Amino acid sequence: MNNPQGPIGIYDSGIGGLTVAHAITQLLPNEDIIYFGDTAHLPYGDKSEAAIQAYSIKIADLLLKKGCKVIVIACNSASSAAYELLKEYVREDAHILNVIDPMITYVSEHFANEEIGLIGTRRTVMSGIYSQRLNEVGQSIRLKSLATPLLAPMIEEGFFNSQISHEIIAQYLSSSELKDIKALILACTHYPLIKKEISQFYKDQVRILDSSEVVAQALKDQLEKSALINSEPNSTKRFLVSDYTPSFEASTRLFFGKVLELELHKLWN
Ligand code: DGL
Repeated sequence: MNNPQGPIGIYDSGIGGLTVAHAITQLLPNEDIIYFGDTAHLPYGDKSEAAIQAYSIKIADLLLKKGCKVIVIACNSASSAAYELLKEYVREDAHILNVIDPMITYVSEHFANEEIGLIGTRRTVMSGIYSQRLNEVGQSIRLKSLATPLLAPMIEEGFFNSQISHEIIAQYLSSSELKDIKALILACTHYPLIKKEISQFYKDQVRILDSSEVVAQALKDQLEKSALINSEPNSTKRFLVSDYTPSFEASTRLFFGKVLELELHKLWN
């Protein structure tokens, strides 16, 4: 926990969390990164809370063994299901960051007393975690949430900026659940890939809030506060997956901006 040279562990159900990993590498280029994509259990959005908690503990064990000073849960579904448990489990061994709290701070500062929307997986929306956190910080923002379970698989399959994606996005966003909103939270780390299409649907009249940059900034603030910034150059970055396919590797370009070499690391043998 107190070693600034320790890597930053980041995990997601698959490669969607690479959007967060990318923002982190842009803001903190000296940091070593170990990314874990639990592709064997993708998608998390339709799994039970207990299953996601079990996967998260296994992944945290792996990241701790590799000496990670921080673990970033780069997945809304896992953040809603397993953050509290992981904090208890990991205790003093590493800091834990989720993708929800930095967004709560951001909307509290910029959209007080407004109506805003949220889209995410079934797991995230059913958990009600965003409303709960807003209540906890005493915010009177009115949140209108809609589960959009087709979007993550659609993106994983490479369907975006296409006629199919336009139609699915339009169908979801036309829902009366999301009427008259000032901003829309993309509560799934896959969705930055369709941010432009969503913005176009609203004719740029609704602010689209993607958590990758606010999470990277929250991580930087945390590292500075704990004197854990790595100032040594020549960082290393590793990308592990629990199930390897060439198509995952090819898709990393979409989420990270370049093709990454993925290493297979099975969680259960
Ligand atoms: N990236 C995950 C999230 O942010 C969604 C994908 C999944 O269902 O596994 O919730």
